Amino acid sequence: MRDRASLTAEFVCLMRALGGEDPFADALLSPAFRALGVAWRAGLTTGLPVDTVTLGIGPLVGARHRFIDRALLAALAGGAGQVVLLGAGLDARPWRLGAALRGARVFVVDHPATARLRAARTRTLPATGAVRVDVDFAGEDFGDALLDAGYLPEITSFFVWEGVSMYLPARVAGACLDRIATLSAPGSGLALDLWRPDAGSPAVRVVEGLSRRALALSGEPVRFGLAPAEVAPFLAAHGFDAAAVESPQGVPWPGLTFASARRRGLSAGA
Ligand SMILES: C[S@@+](CC[C@H](N)C(=O)[O-])C[C@H]1O[C@@H](n2cnc3c(N)ncnc32)[C@H](O)[C@@H]1O
Repeated sequence: MRDRASLTAEFVCLMRALGGEDPFADALLSPAFRALGVAWRAGLTTGLPVDTVTLGIGPLVGARHRFIDRALLAALAGGAGQVVLLGAGLDARPWRLGAALRGARVFVVDHPATARLRAARTRTLPATGAVRVDVDFAGEDFGDALLDAGYLPEITSFFVWEGVSMYLPARVAGACLDRIATLSAPGSGLALDLWRPDAGSPAVRVVEGLSRRALALSGEPVRFGLAPAEVAPFLAAHGFDAAAVESPQGVPWPGLTFASARRRGLSAGA
């Protein structure tokens, strides 16, 4: 990833702002993206629904966020005491889920360029106590950075890895999962999404191709993906037992998978 704040982080935040389920999303947007959101809501842009113009990405981003919310809230209810947002972007969970997260130690990890952007955007929001960790997954060990920042590997944790794996080289994505596993006490878990383009009909592939081209132009090309059937074996190979593996319904993205998983019982030799 180039040393430039993530545009995709801004884009998915805009999708959440337009989706109306995240009351903090607007506050995290740049003035330009916020204005775009206002114009879109007022019907002043293309005149077409945002879902049409974005090729269904809006509902997909909302469904992904809700899936991960459910897994995270279940983990917190089950006693997780630490939450790590890996590649946090402009994720507003520390505010939106503030009540549920109270008492948990929260770490917000991202590439330094995006972490700086996040810090600037959230300056006027109430402090949450979340600890900022700046790290490039591709060249640095985020585990060491987390430990330096006070992460306690003996505490049951939950890792959120939302909208990130597809931008990493396959080797880095696997290494990140291995590192999450070594940082995870028994009972810990994670939620993530994976995207394997070219999985659908020819019409769908056109949509996916357009999207991939736009991502490449934004400087965040898609580098890694797995077909839905490959997700559980991939998680297992890296020390996690899949708890839920879902394909989002009602959006034209058959190659996308949402997954939650638990660290495999350490006594089993994992
Ligand atoms: C599509 S955004 C998702 C942001 C956030 N998780 C969300 O769902 O709103 C992708 C995120 O991955 C982060 N990312 C991508 N490559 C990275 C890398 N090599 N190191 C650290 N973060 C990276 C970006 O900075 C960005 O925040």
